Amino acid sequence: MSKTAALDRIAWDKFSGLSSIEKAPYFVENGRSFHALVAQQFSRPMLEDLCSLTTCVRRISKTRAGSDFLQRQLSDKRAMLYFAQPSTRTYLSFYSACQIIGLQTMNVRDSSTSSEVKGESPEDSVRTFSSYADLIIMRHPEGGFAERIAWMLSNTSRPVPVVNAGSGKDQHPTQALLDIYTLARSFEKTGGIDGKKIAFVGDLKRGRTVRSLAWLLTQYKGVKAYFVAPPELQIGDDILKQLDAAGMPYEISTDFAKVIPEVDAIYMTRIQDEWDVDGESSKIDTSAYHFTKDDLKVLGKNSVIMHPLPRRLEIDPAVDSDPRAVYWRQVRNGMWIRAALILSIFECDGAVRDYCKERNL
Ligand code: CP
Repeated sequence: MSKTAALDRIAWDKFSGLSSIEKAPYFVENGRSFHALVAQQFSRPMLEDLCSLTTCVRRISKTRAGSDFLQRQLSDKRAMLYFAQPSTRTYLSFYSACQIIGLQTMNVRDSSTSSEVKGESPEDSVRTFSSYADLIIMRHPEGGFAERIAWMLSNTSRPVPVVNAGSGKDQHPTQALLDIYTLARSFEKTGGIDGKKIAFVGDLKRGRTVRSLAWLLTQYKGVKAYFVAPPELQIGDDILKQLDAAGMPYEISTDFAKVIPEVDAIYMTRIQDEWDVDGESSKIDTSAYHFTKDDLKVLGKNSVIMHPLPRRLEIDPAVDSDPRAVYWRQVRNGMWIRAALILSIFECDGAVRDYCKERNL
C-alpha cells in the first residue's frame, strides 16, 4: 500500500485549521479510503460500493468455504484496537470483523493498563502500536485526536491506516456507515434512501452518531431531516450550516408526537450525560422524547425505528419485537460493514467481489 501522499505534504498547523469537508480528500486515495476518520470523506459512490461489498461479505460468510476464503484475505495483517473510552458494540463488531477477514488483533481498552500511566503521551503510545500493527482502530474522548494521529503517522516511515471508532462529541463515521447500510436494506423495496424523511431524536447536541449520519444523508437525493430535541440539546449550528451548504432541507422541532407519523425513519439517541459539566442534563425533562408501544400505532407501516445503542429509557423494550424496530439489525450490520471497510482499505474488495460474482451470490 502506498503512503498517503497528501497528508505528508501539508503542515499540521494548516491541516488542523481545515473543516471536516476540507480535510476529507486527505483521507481518500483514488476513490478509496486510506484512513476512515470523518463522515465527510464518503461520497455517494463510495457509500454504494461499500454497501454492495458489505452484502457480498455477508453472503460469502454463510458457508464454511466462504468463511475460509474471507479469513485468507488479511491473514498476514494485524490490527490494534485502541479504545480509550468505553464501548460494547463498536469494539466487539470491529473485533468480530477482523476475525471474519483473518486479521489478528491486539488491544488496549483502558489507558490505565498502558504506559500512559508512566507519563507516556497518547501520541507516543499510538506510534508504538503502529510498530506492531498494520491498522489502528481507535476510540478516543478527544475530538480530532484520530485525525492528529493519522497526520502524525503519515509523516513517519510507517504510515498505517487509522480508523475512527468514535472521537469526542464530533464524529462516529463507522456508526454512520452501518446506519446507512441499515437504512438502505430497510428501504430496499420502497425506493431506497432517496426522498425519505428521517427524524433524529434526543441529545443531538452531543451525539456524535447523529452528527456523522446527518452528513452522510446529504449524499442522497430529496432526504429531509427532522431534529427533535429539547432546545438545550439541539443539533449544533456547524452541522446545520453543512446541511444548508449541501441543500438538504430540515426542520427543528420540540414536538416528537407530531413528527412520528410524518417520517420514514426515527433515529433515537440517549442523553450523553458523560459530557455534562455539572449534571445539567438531569435538569432537562426528556420524557416527551421517548418512543413507547403506543407510538407504534401511528408510525408508518414501512417506517423504521433506529438507535445506535446503548439505550436507557428512550425506547420501551416492548417495542423491540415490532418488525419496524431495526436497532438489533444495526448491531449486526456494524460487523459486516466494518469488515467490508477494512477489506476496502487493504484493497481486497476486488477479490471478494469476484468470489461473489463467480458464485452468483
Ligand atoms: N453505538 C456505539 O458506539 O455503541 P458502543 O458505545 O457500545 O460501542
